[in-house]
Amino acid sequence: MLDMKIPQIDPFIGDEEYKAIKQCFVDKWITEGPRTKLLEEKLLGLIGAKYGVFAPNGTLSLYLALKAVGIGDGDEVIVPDFTFIASATSVIMAGAKPVFVDVNKDNFQIDVSLLKKLLNKHTKAIMPVHMYGTMCDMESVCGFAKENGLLVIEDAAQAIGVKYKGKHAGNWGDVGSFSFFADKTITMGEGGFVTTNNSEVYDKLLYLRNQGRKERGTFIHPEIGYNFRITDFHSAIGLVQFGKLPEIIKRKKIILGWYKEKLKGIEEVTMFRPFTGYDWIPFRVGLLANQAHQLMGYMESKGIQTRSFFYPLHKQPAFKEVISHLIKDSDFPNTCYAYDHGVCLPTYPTLTEDKVEYICSTIRSFYKERRDIFYKYYDNMFADKDYTKETKFIWEMTKTYGVGEVKKVLEIGAGTGNHTKEILKRDIEELFAVDIDPEMVVRLKKKLGLKRNLKIVEGEVDQLREKNFDLTLAMFNVVTYIDSEKQLKQFFSQVYSRLKPGGIFVFDVWNGVAAIKDPPKEKESKYKNVNETIKVKILPETDFTLQKVRLRYMFEIFKDNEIVTEGEYLLTQFLWMPRQLDLILKRVGFEKITTRSLNDLDKRSDSFDWKVVYVVQKPLKK
Ligand SMILES: Cc1ncc(COP(=O)(O)O)c(C=O)c1O
Repeated sequence: MLDMKIPQIDPFIGDEEYKAIKQCFVDKWITEGPRTKLLEEKLLGLIGAKYGVFAPNGTLSLYLALKAVGIGDGDEVIVPDFTFIASATSVIMAGAKPVFVDVNKDNFQIDVSLLKKLLNKHTKAIMPVHMYGTMCDMESVCGFAKENGLLVIEDAAQAIGVKYKGKHAGNWGDVGSFSFFADKTITMGEGGFVTTNNSEVYDKLLYLRNQGRKERGTFIHPEIGYNFRITDFHSAIGLVQFGKLPEIIKRKKIILGWYKEKLKGIEEVTMFRPFTGYDWIPFRVGLLANQAHQLMGYMESKGIQTRSFFYPLHKQPAFKEVISHLIKDSDFPNTCYAYDHGVCLPTYPTLTEDKVEYICSTIRSFYKERRDIFYKYYDNMFADKDYTKETKFIWEMTKTYGVGEVKKVLEIGAGTGNHTKEILKRDIEELFAVDIDPEMVVRLKKKLGLKRNLKIVEGEVDQLREKNFDLTLAMFNVVTYIDSEKQLKQFFSQVYSRLKPGGIFVFDVWNGVAAIKDPPKEKESKYKNVNETIKVKILPETDFTLQKVRLRYMFEIFKDNEIVTEGEYLLTQFLWMPRQLDLILKRVGFEKITTRSLNDLDKRSDSFDWKVVYVVQKPLKK
């Protein structure tokens, strides 16, 4: 894979297209002619529109569409802020002003709920843009346009073949526009197509595109028009491509399936997807990724060509003069989000499964390398923490409530072994240190070395056969990683069955009540490590409905004040409510001894304590 070069796109063209062009030479018909007519019929058949005309490209077809419906000087056209620049420049070219609107966060299609406040007496039209091979909510767009007497010009450049409820993109509004540029689902090299069901608009289109006349060969021109014709070379390619459309769609869907499968489990990314029930011909395979721009740099360095999502139009340097200076990023949170997080992965019909595998494993290693920084500097973050205090408390608890001396201990979520080291200082016969994270286990083994009374186990508790522990501890939020009652019950049962009667179980946990009252805030800390400075920023995101906090640890490592490397780690904490925990513990059979505030172990916890320590016991007799 060393020399792997994977382009973003690779047009699905070959001998067939070449032969078709050659035939134009043989027939000596190189300007717009029979091939163009035939392609027009085929496209209209697919799209279901009554009329259609070609343009040299998608930008000019948008311009024709706008002019044909009468958009011009002083008019305003609402254009989504998230689209290729041509959607807006065609409006400017027509003499009108584009007014930008934010898109939805699900799949970056126009947000109809924001249109109302943009209306004024100049507003003439809306231009929904169907993004990335799926469709906008056209029922809402058309409903809104009708209510407010606006025209609808659909930019369907990326949506050939895409339908909703059987109706093709571009055939919902007053006019539709398509592009056949080299990266589109089917291509003519360059090419555009305008569709309409209105005979007057069609007439206008004919005049505009062919020097203000409908017939060739006459020099009498009833209207002012220009030359927007194409050549039969383009249409010859277009016809072959049209024939390949079903195969292209099939292959693109297979490729999408590979991506879905192979990206599973990478928590840092989610995939772009259409609204439920809408067609999707993955013109692009879009990813929403943490640190997307760094990821793209990394992928490029591994020979994979990526593209970002579109840059918000309201920020385009080219539009500085055109749009009001009052426009603010805060009016376009979703387009800003899309640009910051969006990555287009390579997709083209000849892309093979091993290449998709390479792309996905490159993404995986990017995040793994960044996570490794977390592991490397993990101990620095906890260097000042006093583990003796917690261990002392645990021993006090077992002495007061347990049965006899603590000889056999089970530690769940041993991590890098900070508690483990403390436990080993006690007079115990055997300590089982368990962790499900293989990286942590490797580090733990390295750090603690071989010890007669220590067994380090990678995996879950259920693989342990021993059933006579005096004490089990699960510190460092083991319980908060579990996010379902069923799994938590299972986990508690596993612990229960491995304890001796009278055995003690101690665990710490986030207090959901406190975290919901006072959600975690952004925090930045600095640590020193020989000649490095480690900056850690924790960015929390609380989801109250899901009862979760997602913590994003961002690491920056500096040497001599220069940043040398960066890392990132994602951690999700489930916010268990104390009542939920009490119920599950009881159902499993535990008896609660006490709950303490983790910050002050001498104090019983209350609902303001963020982190709580639970001490429970397996009863002697049931
Ligand atoms: C949404 C959208 N509109 C318009 C265009 C312009 O099409 P063309 O490149 O054929 O001029 C494109 C091309 O990428 C596009 O993606």
